[in-house]
Parts: sequence; structure tokens; C-alpha cells
Amino acid sequence: MFKDSFKYYKARQPAPDLKDVIDVHNSDNKNVRKITVFAADCQNDLSLYLGLKPVEGWSAFDFINIPGLLFIKNPFTPSGQRNWIVKCLKNYTKKPNILNIDAHGFLNDDKTWWDESFGAASKTDLLAKLRWATLGYHHNWDTKHYAENFKTEIPQDLKDLTSVFATALGFNKFNAEAAIINYYRMNSTLAGHTDHSEIYLEAPLFSVSFGQTAVFLIGGLKLEDPAHALLLRSGDVVVMSGNSRLRYHGVPRILYGDSAPWESNDQSLGECNDWKRAKSYISEARINLNIRQVLKPGQSAL
Ligand code: OGA
Ligand code: MN
Repeated sequence: MFKDSFKYYKARQPAPDLKDVIDVHNSDNKNVRKITVFAADCQNDLSLYLGLKPVEGWSAFDFINIPGLLFIKNPFTPSGQRNWIVKCLKNYTKKPNILNIDAHGFLNDDKTWWDESFGAASKTDLLAKLRWATLGYHHNWDTKHYAENFKTEIPQDLKDLTSVFATALGFNKFNAEAAIINYYRMNSTLAGHTDHSEIYLEAPLFSVSFGQTAVFLIGGLKLEDPAHALLLRSGDVVVMSGNSRLRYHGVPRILYGDSAPWESNDQSLGECNDWKRAKSYISEARINLNIRQVLKPGQSAL
């Protein structure tokens, strides 16, 4: 059952055995099959500005026991990862995006989470309080409904990133209309849930991980169904499509990663201040970009 597995992987005492956690990066894995990625003509131009490796070099998989769930093994270049991590921390935490800390009045109007958390009089408590940001149609955590009058622009780079993933996996005409960025500290969890607020549930949901590693738990359509655990490392992209779109899922545990795919071999470039801050943040945190289409094809408003 989902709840039992969640408890098992969340426990500190005793710490869980990770032997049943599916690790796609482990090549002799019996649970996954390689799938074809489609490289459209203009995709590689986009890839460069999006910090992605050429599409031809990507490895993508599906799961024998989890139909509809797809996985792209880290398609980002090291500098691509650094750019996206900085964007998630510096750019996407600015207005008009909405943050969990907005409701608490910690930030005065002209102040940003980034400046206040890492500035001269840095506030470590504020740094740790950031849990989520919403973009586009803002997820309403109470009603779980999107509303036409509670919507701002999705950044073009985020739309382009998701379009490249969609096209590569054969989903044409995906439109990024809502995004949640989840910020996890090492002791954070995300309780089991389904994402069913979108009107057009035929569209896949894209989930991109950065920073430390997660144990991601995915069950069935009912809480009683058994769950599978998988390891998500920095750069990995998970796609919930078809039969897996409405499955229960959650994050019972964050683990320190066994590699740092945001580091380049080429250190000659030096490190700018933004990256220094972001690097210190990510050493004790995970970021998840969760991107959805809300509307039906052809629909222009809710
Ligand atoms: C979500 C979600 C999973 C993750 O934001 O709805 O399920 O890997 N995130 O953080
Ligand atoms: Mn979810």
C-alpha cells in the first residue's frame, strides 16, 4: 500500500533499505526499457539555449510495471543545470510568481527572497522557509482549482524547455500553462497525492529534478494499490502520461546525491556570485519543477 511504503521510506529509525528503489542510472535494470527519442529539426538550436545536450544523445525509458510513466536520464549539460538552478532560485522566486512565504508577510513589497536570504544581513530562517513557487495558472492549495483571474505569464524559457521534452517523447502540441516549483530541504517530504486539477488530463505532466536526490514513490489509481519507489537525481525528467497521469505519488525522502552533475570539468570559467549562492543552497536542498497543461487543445481560457 502507498501509505505503508511512504512510511517505510520516510523513517529515520530504522533507516530504509534502498535495494528495491528503481535506479534508472543503473544500466542492468530489469524494470525499465529504452524508448525512442525524436529529434525535430529545430530542437538542437533550442537545446543550446536551454542548456540541454543534443537530443540524439539522450536516453529515455519507460517502466515495465508502471505504464505511462516515462523517464529522461539527465539531458542537461553541467552549465545547463547551473543555469536552471539559478533561475529557480533567483528569477522564478520574483513577482508576479507566488511563493508560500508571501502569505506570512516575511518580505516587504520591494524585497525578494533571493536578496533577503543571501544578502549582507542574510536570513537563514527565510532561506529554509521557501517551500514552493507557482507560475502561470497558480495552483490553489486549498480548493485545488485553477482560476482565470489567478494567472500570470509562464516564462518563455520554461515553455520552451517543456516543449522540447514533449516533442522528444512524441507528445505534440503540449502547452505549459501552470508550474509549481517545489523546494525541498534534506528533511522535507511531499505527501501522497494525485494531480487532477487540470481540465485536460490527457496532457502529460513534466517533472524536472535538480540538486540532491529524491526517493519518488508512485502507486496506482487507489491509495490501496502497491507503490514503486524510484531514485530521481539532478537533471532527471519524469513524465506522467496516459495511465500514470492520475496515479498517487509523493516524495518520502531526500538523500544526499552520489554525484554533482552541475559541476563542469572545465573550472577555468570561475564561478559567478549567483552560482556561488545557488551552489551553497543546493548542497542541502532539492528543487522540483512540475509543469502542466491546464486547458484542452484549442481552449483559450477557463
Ligand atoms: C508535485 C509533485 C514531485 C517531486 O509537485 O505535484 O508531485 O518529485 N512533485 O517533487
Ligand atoms: Mn504531483
